[in-house]
Amino acid sequence: MKIKGSKIGGAKRISLGLPSIFLLCLFFFLAGFFGSSLFSQQILSWIPRALFFPNFATAEQCESIIKMTKPHLKPSKLAFRQGETAENTKGTRTSSGMFISASEDSTGLLDQIDAKIAKATMIPKNHGESFNVLRYEIGQRYHSHYDAFNPAEYGPQKSQRVASFLLYLSDVEEGGETMFPFENGQNMDGNYDYRKCIGLKVKPRRGDGLLFYSLFPNGTIDPTSLHGSCPVIEGEKWVATKWIRDQVQFQDY
Ligand SMILES: *[C@@H]1O[C@H](CO)[C@@H](O)[C@H](O)[C@H]1NC(C)=O
Repeated sequence: MKIKGSKIGGAKRISLGLPSIFLLCLFFFLAGFFGSSLFSQQILSWIPRALFFPNFATAEQCESIIKMTKPHLKPSKLAFRQGETAENTKGTRTSSGMFISASEDSTGLLDQIDAKIAKATMIPKNHGESFNVLRYEIGQRYHSHYDAFNPAEYGPQKSQRVASFLLYLSDVEEGGETMFPFENGQNMDGNYDYRKCIGLKVKPRRGDGLLFYSLFPNGTIDPTSLHGSCPVIEGEKWVATKWIRDQVQFQDY
């Protein structure tokens, strides 16, 4: 049925046929759908506080970061607790990686990413550490751990990691998820095996971003921010991690 245009109070009404109304609806639906997936964040979880940013970076940007860092990768290291050594923590973190700051990247790309992360977190970019770019090959993983440093285990801290932003630089065919085993307080009965890949899992996809908070608003460590990287089963995982601190890291930008 066609809705006829009519004259009310002398003003001509525009007539809209059903097909055009349908098309308009479709347009707004699609605009909303793609708009939300392109430009906005999605809350993944409140316990821990985790946000997902689809298409945070472009495929080209991800490719450039891989290209600039690949020749400089070294086996990733751990910050040791008291009593821990390279020997007795062997196998905990098997990726390769390197650190690079925006000031070391003359193309300006890392500075752009830094600025975008600052916008997403509302924490100024001078609170960020250098990017830690990591590559996980088949079988490589990172057992569950905290990004924040518990003073009881690591001694007094001059500054603390508040949040972590992960930018996935590659897709992974299978495995390689970022996992939070204590999501919603589950598995916290003390029997959790830190090597197990359970709980909330985020599948790496090139260009997507993941932000989570290691500290509660009162500055204490959120126990549910425990997380790890599941072993890569097929493919290769590349990720750029930005640890964001409560104190200014760089004065110069
Ligand atoms: C800090 O906040 C958390 C979460 O709200 C709460 O469980 C904890 O008891 C608080 N700690 C202190 C020392 O205030």
